Parts: sequence; structure tokens; C-alpha cells
Amino acid sequence: MQRLELKEVNSTNLYCKENMAFLQDKTIVTAKKQTSGRGRFDRAWIDFGEENLFLSLVLKGSDGFLPVYSNLTQYMSVVLCHVLENYGLKPEIKWPNDVLIDGKKIAGILCETVMRGHEFKGLVLGIGVNLKANSEAVLQITDKKVTAVNLELNCEIDKEIFLNELLEEFFGRYDEFLKKGFHFVKTDYLRYANFLDKEVRVKVLSEIKSGLVKAVDNDGALVLENNGEEFILTMGDIIM
Ligand code: BTN
Repeated sequence: MQRLELKEVNSTNLYCKENMAFLQDKTIVTAKKQTSGRGRFDRAWIDFGEENLFLSLVLKGSDGFLPVYSNLTQYMSVVLCHVLENYGLKPEIKWPNDVLIDGKKIAGILCETVMRGHEFKGLVLGIGVNLKANSEAVLQITDKKVTAVNLELNCEIDKEIFLNELLEEFFGRYDEFLKKGFHFVKTDYLRYANFLDKEVRVKVLSEIKSGLVKAVDNDGALVLENNGEEFILTMGDIIM
């Protein structure tokens, strides 16, 4: 596997998108510093310093865009939970793929598709994990609660070891995930899910849908019930 370690970059995802033509399948790109890290819905991803993980994986199948790619971020959220759990943490997933500890976000995942015209060129799966942050710095973020591994464990962990564990777990089961899809990780996903049977509001583009979470279906979509009506959401952000 190709591995690129960048000193400083605007965003590892952007770097991969711009260099997609030169990057092989399963290339691993990390950066010590991101000056313009992005999250879902174009939100900023804060850089808490070089001990944190800024990672993008380039994934190129030979069969064009596969429907299973829509569940890659959910697969990665389960992988992250397994790795964090092995450090003694109790991770939770907020649909679709936010990883939290005790309601505070510790990791985020952003998957982007690269097309040239109608031709599928590849995917960039970006992962940010807060491994080391200062307790004051996390409080500066006011739109959500945020934490980091060091703050939860009261000790620091090694970034390279964490990265290797993550890659081993992700690629170790990747081929099986591609064959079986979301169903392959559904039981684990639900074990970590912190939103089942809760009344939630979900921001879907500029609309808010509210209701009781009845299930996550076999495609990873969120099933909500409101006044006897059922809604199936394939994208959005839960505001609890
Ligand atoms: C989110 O929770 O909204 C997703 C955050 C994804 C952040 C990572 S950090 C590495 C990669 N580069 C980026 O610019 N974003 C992703």
C-alpha cells in the first residue's frame, strides 16, 4: 500500500481529490497539519495539533461506483468504535457516522466521490480523530461538544500505533464489507448506536424532520415515525 505523510496541507481529502489520477487504490495519506480541514456539510474540521490524526484513504474499485460505497462511512464508524473500545473507551455512533464518547464528538468521517464527467475515478474516505487536545481548546468549539482520547483516558496514546490498528481493522474486513454491504456491520453498528428509540430532530439540507427513531434499515437509512407516518432518511444530521 502506498503511504504519503504530508507535513502540512490544506486538507488531506482535497489533496487526494486533486491528485486522484496519480494515487493508487488503497493509498493512505496523512498530514501533521491541516490548514483547512473540512467536515460534512462543508463545516470546518479543527486542527488541535500534530498529535491528532488527519487521514484520507483513496479507494478505487474497478467496477465504477458501487451502491455499497454509500455505507463506507458507517463501516468506518464501526471500525473506529472497535479500535477506541480496545483502549478502554465506550464509543457511541450518532447516525450516520459521528463517533462520540459520552455525547462528545471524538472522530468524524467524510467520504467524497471523484468523477470526471460521468466517469467514476475513485473515493476519498477522510477521517479525523482527536487523539490529543487541550481541555480549553475543545471548549472553544461552541456548536457541539467535543473531546479527545487524552482527555477521556487521562493519558496520551501513540498516533502511529492507533493508525496501524485502524488500518488493520479497516482493510482486514474491507473485501467482506464490499461483498456484504451494511448488513455485514449492522449488528455492531446498532450496538454502538446512541439514537435508537429516541425522539430526534434531523437536519436534512435546509429542512428539519422530527420523530421517534424506529430503526436503521438494511441499507443504513434512518427510519423515523411521526404521527403514524414513517420517514426513511438516507442523509442528514441528527440534532439531539
Ligand atoms: C465530519 O465529522 O464532519 C467529518 C470530519 C472529517 C475530517 C477529516 S480530517 C482528514 C480529512 N481531511 C479533511 O479535510 N477532512 C477529513
